[in-house]
Amino acid sequence: MVETLTPSPSIWRLNPRRSIPTLFTSYKTLFALLWIVVFTSIFVWNRNFVDGFLIFRRPVTARSLPRFRPVAFNLTDFGAVGDGVTVNTLAFEKAVFMISKLGKSGGGQLNVPAGKWLTGPFNLTSHMTLFLDEDAVILGVDDETYWPLMPPLPSYGYGREHPGPRYGSLIHGQNLRDVVITGNNGTIDGQGQRWWKRYRQKLLNNTRGPLVQIMYSSDIVISNITLRNPPFWTLHPYDCKNVTIRNMTILAPLFEAPNTDGIDPDSCEDMLIEDSYISVGDDAIAIKSGWDQYGIAYGRPSKNILIRNLVVRSMVSAGISIGSEMSGGVSNVTVENVLVWNSRRAVRIKTAAGRGAYIRDIKYKNITFENVRVGIIIKTDYNEHPDAGFDPKAFPEIRDISYTSIHGEGVRVPVRIHGSADIPVRNVTFRDMSVGITYKKKHIFQCAYVSGRVIGSIFPKPCENLDLYDEQGTLVKKSVSENASDIDYDI
Ligand SMILES: *[C@@H]1O[C@H](CO)[C@@H](O)[C@H](O)[C@H]1NC(C)=O
Ligand SMILES: *[C@@H]1O[C@H](CO)[C@@H](O)[C@H](O)[C@H]1NC(C)=O
Ligand SMILES: *[C@@H]1O[C@H](CO)[C@@H](O)[C@H](O)[C@H]1NC(C)=O
Ligand SMILES: *[C@@H]1O[C@H](CO)[C@@H](O)[C@H](O)[C@H]1NC(C)=O
Ligand SMILES: *[C@@H]1O[C@H](CO)[C@@H](O)[C@H](O)[C@H]1NC(C)=O
Ligand SMILES: *[C@@H]1O[C@H](CO)[C@@H](O)[C@H](O)[C@H]1NC(C)=O
Ligand SMILES: *[C@@H]1O[C@H](CO)[C@@H](O)[C@H](O)[C@H]1NC(C)=O
Ligand SMILES: *[C@@H]1O[C@H](CO)[C@@H](O)[C@H](O)[C@H]1NC(C)=O
Ligand SMILES: *[C@@H]1O[C@H](CO)[C@@H](O)[C@H](O)[C@H]1NC(C)=O
Ligand SMILES: *[C@@H]1O[C@H](CO)[C@@H](O)[C@H](O)[C@H]1NC(C)=O
Ligand SMILES: *[C@@H]1O[C@H](CO)[C@@H](O)[C@H](O)[C@H]1NC(C)=O
Repeated sequence: MVETLTPSPSIWRLNPRRSIPTLFTSYKTLFALLWIVVFTSIFVWNRNFVDGFLIFRRPVTARSLPRFRPVAFNLTDFGAVGDGVTVNTLAFEKAVFMISKLGKSGGGQLNVPAGKWLTGPFNLTSHMTLFLDEDAVILGVDDETYWPLMPPLPSYGYGREHPGPRYGSLIHGQNLRDVVITGNNGTIDGQGQRWWKRYRQKLLNNTRGPLVQIMYSSDIVISNITLRNPPFWTLHPYDCKNVTIRNMTILAPLFEAPNTDGIDPDSCEDMLIEDSYISVGDDAIAIKSGWDQYGIAYGRPSKNILIRNLVVRSMVSAGISIGSEMSGGVSNVTVENVLVWNSRRAVRIKTAAGRGAYIRDIKYKNITFENVRVGIIIKTDYNEHPDAGFDPKAFPEIRDISYTSIHGEGVRVPVRIHGSADIPVRNVTFRDMSVGITYKKKHIFQCAYVSGRVIGSIFPKPCENLDLYDEQGTLVKKSVSENASDIDYDI
């Protein structure tokens, strides 16, 4: 299991140093020559691979995998062993190192074939495609001594669970461009079980690491694979731009898998999340942007995010959340065509005094609840703080939120919007809502400090805080009690 960072022969066999004595006085010349040899070898090897394939036309060959980059490697080229026991960190690192030299010529692809590829954390590089074939499983080493510690995220000040440094992620990237993680539904499995247990037993001194974390990067695509059993959050794009997450399966146990959020867009802009199935032990999706005074100082919002065509499940938390860490602001989020089933909560906004910033221009469309306890939630007293240094007067602003075509059945509390005098919820719109309920009809559309409107007929009957309009948009009845409070957490 133990490995060192000493380069193994496979990568260095191309090194001409041993056979050329003292001919080269300058390291620069030697280095240039070394790279010429390496590149020639790569191209010859690639051509041979393709040619060999064509010439021999073996009747039974490995299916050729789609090629997204001019050069493709097989993880086994770097000495990896897919037996689920050998630790292959070095093979991944060598592959990434090779690809990091190919950026100018379109980058490189690393194919992970069928097998169980145990590895410690490793970093990606720009212009790279990581392709996981069918039945390929990347398994994270679950012994924390393999996991490097990294500084806290600047917008959190802390490692979320413990002060000070945090564990990095299994698959990590920083300051990258043009990265693709995809495949024929191969799997990245964080083997979180040991982490969850040690977290609950309070044996960890640092915050657990996410499964995949990409930071300060742009033009990222993650698609067509399965992610499961993360030690902590599953997929964490942090301060990124132009991220597409498509056709994914994200799985963790529904209980006793603490903080296994599915996807946490954090201070990101221009993101698309679509066509995926997420069933996890915390929020399926949680849009964030930093924590209290640290997030306010960092000041990077999450915005322009489109989430659509998902089926999600969360028994502990919620399907789609915004917050509670949102101190850089969250705006222009659309959530549409989402089914939330057998869950505790469906769509939730959570924040608290101390967060500052705003949540605005949020649109929910065509959301279906199937057997959920609480459908729509806005909670403004989610009082979890990094330390006592937050400003209790930093009130977030919450406004311009619309719920259109909300349907479903088996819902206990369809709506609970709990604003306060300090954090009122402004300009909420409901239009076309009919939800089958499982409880008495009174006090199930719960409101406090909410202003806004209901357009057309909706079921169940809305709270009195909202103005009523007909289908044509004509005011029927103006509310006189936007600050009335009818909240009951016991239902
Ligand atoms: C990768 O290498 C392994 C072992 O040599 C082989 O079984 C597999 O078919 C290769 N995959 C591709 C896509 O070349
Ligand atoms: C990945 O890169 C970051 C930033 O350079 C570094 O802090 C971290 O230790 C690296 N992780 C691994 C596993 O090498
Ligand atoms: C989704 O990914 C799977 C492989 O994981 C592939 O078979 C399927 O065709 C993809 N679907 C779409 C719509 O991309
Ligand atoms: C991908 O694999 C997961 C986990 O095994 C499975 O639930 C899902 O249906 C598969 N997706 C496709 C498109 O085959
Ligand atoms: C946590 O700290 C304690 C006390 O310093 C130490 O004994 C223990 O080994 C540490 N645990 C880990 C996982 O680093
Ligand atoms: C976003 O990233 C994708 C994938 O790398 C790329 O094709 C596209 O051009 C990028 N879009 C913008 C606006 O940069
Ligand atoms: C995902 O799979 C679908 C269907 O096979 C394919 O059209 C699409 O290009 C794949 N996406 C990526 C990035 O591999
Ligand atoms: C809002 O986000 C969408 C993506 O969901 C984007 O197309 C649109 O341009 C954004 N609107 C503004 C005003 O930035
Ligand atoms: C609403 O969302 C569901 C998925 O939850 C989808 O099947 C349906 O086509 C959507 N309806 C419209 C009108 O887009
Ligand atoms: C209320 O919110 C809607 C979007 O839901 C927006 O179009 C409208 O401009 C907002 N009204 C005010 C007065 O801000
Ligand atoms: C309701 O409370 C808000 C915030 O505290 C306040 O701005 C508003 O004037 C109040 N509205 C009424 C009708 O009292």
